[in-house]
Order: sequence, then structure tokens, then C-alpha cells
Amino acid sequence: MTPPPVLLDCDPGIDDALALIYLAGLHTRGDIRLVGVTTTAGNTTTRRTAVNAAWVLARCGITDVPVAAGRAEPLKAPLVTTPETHGEHGMGYVTPTVDQDVDTHWETLWDKVCAEHGESLQLIVTGPCTNLAAWLGEGSQTTAAFDSVTIMGGAVLYQGNTTPTAEWNFWVDPDAAKDVFAQASPELPVTLAPLNVTEQMLLDPLGLETLIAALGGTPIAADLPEILRFYFEFHEATGAGYQAQIHDLLTCMIALGTVAHRTTETTVDVEADSELTRGTSLADHRGHWQRPANAHLVTEADIPAAWAEFHAAARTLAQAAASR
Ligand code: BDR
Ligand code: CA
Repeated sequence: MTPPPVLLDCDPGIDDALALIYLAGLHTRGDIRLVGVTTTAGNTTTRRTAVNAAWVLARCGITDVPVAAGRAEPLKAPLVTTPETHGEHGMGYVTPTVDQDVDTHWETLWDKVCAEHGESLQLIVTGPCTNLAAWLGEGSQTTAAFDSVTIMGGAVLYQGNTTPTAEWNFWVDPDAAKDVFAQASPELPVTLAPLNVTEQMLLDPLGLETLIAALGGTPIAADLPEILRFYFEFHEATGAGYQAQIHDLLTCMIALGTVAHRTTETTVDVEADSELTRGTSLADHRGHWQRPANAHLVTEADIPAAWAEFHAAARTLAQAAASR
């Protein structure tokens, strides 16, 4: 069977980095084909997120996946980044550098992988929806260009992590998030992994030790303590304890169906105009809006199984590193 092609649009970012390690493991095992990685501005600038993505892949032994920096700014809002959450350069206490070219035009990459992989392509977005909304906004493209579109974002009818009601990715570019759901439909739904579920995927120092052991001699294993130390400290400072929420990793597993989860069909919309409720996401479970469903909203996921799945992918990377 041909492995499903995957395009990741991300903003590494520490939990994005763990998502990349997971996808690197699946790519190495031949379970998926990671055909491209593009980045958005959010956790840090778009060029920095691209350098970080290429660096994480290289530290996992992968240098043949094209990485391209995406749009530098949200659609309308001025860019805000979050060094307090992910570190000055988006990778905790580590400052990645790479030789790999990350300046290829991202839209050219999207057009190319869509043309090559047609409707079997799985798009996973773990940063702001800026690139996806811009690409859809050009007119000729729809979410039907992909077999599936899965997004990490929103705190749906739930407390936010950026404002009382908004999650970070949707808050950074609320117009993009709104546009994506305006274009989604029952025929072209988007799977949304919201904060409600992803914040349950928690890594603590003991879990990190287990992960590092599973990665064996994979170079990224040596970097993880200083990357995660920053993220643990951030979560502790916000009252969440000395541990970290690994949103984007869980989102990739949901996208690829590698972890058991539940969804509900609903209509999702995002507030883009009000400053007070900017980026707030809503789901119309009772049909008040009388609008068609546009989303598979994730409501539950098997977190212990997700960790087991991640460790198996990490062990694949360890075996590959040992044989190099
Ligand atoms: C999301 O915001 C970012 O900081 C994380 O990488 C994740 O994608 C969680 O709100
Ligand atoms: Ca992210």
C-alpha cells in the first residue's frame, strides 16, 4: 500500500517540534510520506519557525523533506509572537541553525504537492490558519484539494489559553480561522482538535525521560531536556504545574487516525471583529444558526494510547539512528 502523503503546516514551537518528531518516525517507518513542511508566524516569526522545523527534522535524520517559510504576517492583524511560551527562538533554551534552504516559495510547494498527490493528501495545520486561508482565498482552491484537513485550534465553548475565551492559534490570526470555517461545508469538513482535548496531552519530567530513552541515539534526544525545560517552566508559571501540554502532537495522531478519538459533526465559527472576544471559537451544537455543519469537532482522545504510539515512532527513529 502506498503510504499516505502528508503536508504539515506548523509554527515550531515546542509542541510542534514533538509533532515533527512523531511524523519523522512515521516517515522513516514508511507509514506516511511527509511530502512537505511549511510554517506560519505565531509562536515566533515564520522564518524562524521554518529554520526550527528543518532543524528538528535533521536532528531526526530527515533531510529530504522540503521545508518552506510561509506568510510572514496574519491576514489582517499585526503579528504577535510568544517568546514567553516557547523561548526567544521558539525552541526553549536551544537556538537551532540549519544549512537547508527554507526560502522556497511556500505556495509553489503547496501547488506542487497538491498536483502530485491529488486527493490523497492529508493537510495538518498546527499553527495559525494563515497559509491555509490565504491559499483558499486565492479563489481556485477548496479544501477538496486534500483528502483531509485537520487543524489544532480554538477553545470551543471552553476557557481559552490566551484570553478568557480564545486559544492562541485562533487568536493570532482570527480572520484566517474564520475564513477557513466559512469555506468548509458538509462535503468539505475540517477536523478541529481544540484546546478542550489537546490540553489533556501532558508531558512531565518522567514522561520526558521515557521519551528520551525511546529515541535512543537520535540526535534530537540530546536537545529535548533544554527545549522542554523552558516549556515546563512556562506551564508552571501559568499555574499548570511543572509539565507541558503537547497539543500539536495529539493533533497529528487524530489527523492520521493513529489514536482512538471521538468527534461530533457541528458548525464552527470564529470571532474576528471584536477585540474583547477576538479569536473566540463557537460550535452551534443545537442548530441555532440554521447553517450546515462544517466541522468534525474532536471531543475526546485516548491519551495513554497516544503516548504509546509516540514512543513506538520514537523507537523507529532510534533504530534508524543506530543503523546510520
Ligand atoms: C497552540 O498554540 C501554540 O503555542 C502551540 O504550538 C499550539 O499549536 C496551543 O494553543
Ligand atoms: Ca503550534
